Amino acid sequence: MIVKALEWIGGIDGFLEIVDQRKLPADFVKLKCRDVETLFEAIKTLAVRGAPALGVCAAYGLVLSLQKSSDSDDPRRELEILSRYARYLASSRPTAVNLFWALERIQATAQKFVDDRPDATTKALRETILAEANAVCREDVDMCRRIGENGEKFINEGDGILTHCNAGALATAGQGTALSVLFEAHKNKKKFRVYACETRPLLQGARLTAWELKQAGIDVTIICDNMAGWMMKQSKINTVITGADRIAANGDTANKIGTYSLSILAREHGLPFYIAAPSSTFDLSIKSGKEILIEQRAAEEITQFARTQIAPPGVGACNPAFDVTEAGDITAIITEKGVIEKPDSGSILRLLNCGTNKQ
Ligand code: MRU
Repeated sequence: MIVKALEWIGGIDGFLEIVDQRKLPADFVKLKCRDVETLFEAIKTLAVRGAPALGVCAAYGLVLSLQKSSDSDDPRRELEILSRYARYLASSRPTAVNLFWALERIQATAQKFVDDRPDATTKALRETILAEANAVCREDVDMCRRIGENGEKFINEGDGILTHCNAGALATAGQGTALSVLFEAHKNKKKFRVYACETRPLLQGARLTAWELKQAGIDVTIICDNMAGWMMKQSKINTVITGADRIAANGDTANKIGTYSLSILAREHGLPFYIAAPSSTFDLSIKSGKEILIEQRAAEEITQFARTQIAPPGVGACNPAFDVTEAGDITAIITEKGVIEKPDSGSILRLLNCGTNKQ
């Protein structure tokens, strides 16, 4: 069974329920986000994470943001509140573009509604915003399935597939991106083994990816991040597939720290390196990966392990949460619209604009 990472419960006065990923795999606990501050904290502390999931959460966060405002019957005032909370939510995590994409989409929908119907009630505006957030969620489910279907052909019988971090159902509203490809291959009865990098420092690979794949009955083996090269050298790994947090116009791709090193190792060993991501992860406003803001997280995530100090007290740690893989090292980007082989600005634009990569 594929887990549902998040769900909106109820109507405009409802709440967002998320699986608390900080507690997995030991405990499967759901967290009810009844206000935008609780959701903000959940995002910041990685109770919910993964680029597409952050986009869906941001959309529902704006629904929550209007619940407490007094019923002014002035939709223009609601737009101001929306914009204030959009800035607040945007300050939670900087790298995954889906979060910003969803905030802009919801605000644009609200603005259009108010422009088209200046006499509408605030209740009608809130209903419109909830409908749009539900659409973002539904579309994500659909995109995940299509990514899986489009990428399934790259998985062969007997493969050893390396993945990094968690790009599964827990990172989306649907069945994931990179893991969606594996779920579809498994559904088609292909036999393969997945190597999941543990993904220091927060162990999304060991805790979340291994949990999801095991639940689905897929053969999964955890390795420490620094073992990948040796496993490739021994021909245990012959394909790499990961998700993405932001893809620049030229195809440079930000993903969990360590992905860049894996791309270099894959190139060195002559292995294909795939990125699986929905179109909401592309940021065509930036030319290359150099413009991607990389989140820096607390040193304690590295100097401590399960709240126990493991480094000498007083020693600092550098903790960038993401890195950027160069487009030239990506064999193909698998999207819901199709596959972009040897990604560059031209091939990306062609696929995103018209869903075809024919020249
Ligand atoms: O810090 P995280 O756990 O939010 O990082 C997540 C990743 O890097 C994922 O690989 C990425 O968001 C793709 S999710 C489908």
